[in-house]
Amino acid sequence: MKRQTMPTKTQRARGKPVAYDHSHLRWQVVKRRRGVAEEVGRFRAPLDLDFKGAKTAYATHAIHSFSAKFPPQLASWAIQEFTSLRETVIDPMAGSGTTLVEACLLGRNSYGIDIDPLARLISKVKSTPMDFWKLQSETNRFEVSLGLAFKELEKARRNGSGLEGVRKQITIPEFPNRDYWFLAEVSEELALLKSQILNVADSDVRDFLLVVFSSIIITKGKTSVANVMDLAHSRPHYAKPEAKPDTLKLFIVRLMKLRKAMEKFSADADPNVSAKIIGDDAKRIALNEEKVDFVFTSPPYVNAIDYPRAHKFTVFWLGEVFGVQPGEYTNLGKSYIGTERVDKSECLQRVQVKFELRLVDKIVKELSNVDVKQAGIAHRYFSEMQQVLSEVGRVLKFDKFGVIVVGPSNIRGISVPTHEAMVELGESVVGRRWKLRCEGILRRKLDRDKRQLPVVRGLFGNGIQTEYLVVLKKVRL
Ligand SMILES: C[S@@+](CC[C@H](N)C(=O)[O-])C[C@H]1O[C@@H](n2cnc3c(N)ncnc32)[C@H](O)[C@@H]1O
Repeated sequence: MKRQTMPTKTQRARGKPVAYDHSHLRWQVVKRRRGVAEEVGRFRAPLDLDFKGAKTAYATHAIHSFSAKFPPQLASWAIQEFTSLRETVIDPMAGSGTTLVEACLLGRNSYGIDIDPLARLISKVKSTPMDFWKLQSETNRFEVSLGLAFKELEKARRNGSGLEGVRKQITIPEFPNRDYWFLAEVSEELALLKSQILNVADSDVRDFLLVVFSSIIITKGKTSVANVMDLAHSRPHYAKPEAKPDTLKLFIVRLMKLRKAMEKFSADADPNVSAKIIGDDAKRIALNEEKVDFVFTSPPYVNAIDYPRAHKFTVFWLGEVFGVQPGEYTNLGKSYIGTERVDKSECLQRVQVKFELRLVDKIVKELSNVDVKQAGIAHRYFSEMQQVLSEVGRVLKFDKFGVIVVGPSNIRGISVPTHEAMVELGESVVGRRWKLRCEGILRRKLDRDKRQLPVVRGLFGNGIQTEYLVVLKKVRL
C-alpha cells in the first residue's frame, strides 16, 4: 500500500478564538408566545439556519450513517454563538456526535451522552483525534493480517470446510433472524473480521475499526453486507442480494475512506480540548451542578425513529463489545425517549396524570380523545423531556444557555407543536436557586435530503419540514 504524506497543518490558528463574522446576522424568531418575542435581540442568529445544500461530510461527520443528524453547520453556529474558546458544551442526546465533533474543531471541551450503545461508540470515535502515524501503521498492519485470514478462509472453503476449518474458536453470534438478514458466508466473514478487530491492542484503533465494521452493515441504499436496504433510514427492508457481497473489499474500501476522514479531523481538531462520553441517560447526567457553559441537543421526535430497529444489525454482532445481549437490547428499546413501545396499561395510567401545563395537557387530552395509546406515548415523551430539561438546568452555569432542536409532529391527525411544548416544559423546571427561561425560538427549514425525519404536513408548513431551536437560559430565582 502507498505510504501517505503527513497532513498539512491546520489553517486555523491554534489557541485563538475562531473568527466569526456577525455582520450579516439578524433575528429570526417565531412570535408565537407573548414573552418570547420580547426577548428578541439578546442573541443573534444567521439569516439562514437552513444550511440547504451545505456540505456536511467534512471531518468525521460522515463516517457512519445515522438517522436524524443535524447539520454540523448548525452545531457550529450554536457553539460559536453561545460559548467562548475552551468552554464546555454538552449534548445529552449526542446521537452520532455532531456536537462533539464541532466542539473539538472549535476548541471547546465537550461531553456526550446517549442511551444507544452504537451511538456512543460512533460519537467517541468521531470525536477522538488519532495520531497520524499510529493510525497509518496500525491499520496497514491490520489490513495485511486481515487479507491473510480471508485467504485462509477461502482455502478452507475450497477444501470443503468453512470458518471452523480455519478458526475453530470463532463463533458466529446467535440472534433472531440472523440467517434471514445475513447470508451464511457473510456471517462467517463478519465473524472472522470481528475477531481480527478484537485482537487489535490499541483501544482507539480498535474502536475505529469497529465503526468501519458497523459502517458496512448500516448503510444507505443497497450497499450493506446484510440482506437489507436503507438501514440508515431506520426501518429495515429485506433486499435479496444479486450476488454475495464482497465483505473484505467493502471493508477495506471503507477503511481507507474513513481513515482519510479521521486524519483530516485529527489534524484540524484543537489539541487543547477533549470530548468525553459520560453516560447513557440524559435524565441522569453524571455531572455536578453548574459544570457546563452550553447545552446543545436534539431529542428524538415523539414516536418518530426507532433507533434499535436499525442499530440491532450491528449491536447484535458486537454484543460482547457493548456488553448487551440481543434480548437486552430489544428491551432497551423501550427506554428510549420518544419510543412508541409503551404498554397500553401505562398509557391508560399516564393520561390520568396532569402536568398542569396548558399546552402539554391540551395535547395529551386531544390525543386521548382519538387514541389513548398515542396520548400515553406523548405523555411519557413530555414527562421524560421534562426530566432531561431539569438536568439541563442543573448542570448549566448561571446565565448560560441550552438550545433544544425539535420539530412539530402530527399524530393521528392532531398537530403536536413539540417546540412550544418544550418551552412550557423547560419553564416548568426549577432548581433550588434557578429556573429556565425561554429566550426565543428560532426556525429553520429542513433539508429533506439531509435530515431524515418524517414529513409533517398540514398545520406545520404545507409539506415543508420545519424545526425549531428553543433557546433556554438558566436564570436566578
Ligand atoms: C435525533 S438523535 C440525535 C442526533 C444528533 N444530534 C446527531 O447529529 O447525530 C436523538 C438521540 O437521542 C438518543 N436518546 C433517546 N433516549 C435517550 C436517553 N434517555 N438518554 C440519552 N439519549 C437518548 C437516541 O439514541 C438518539 O441517538
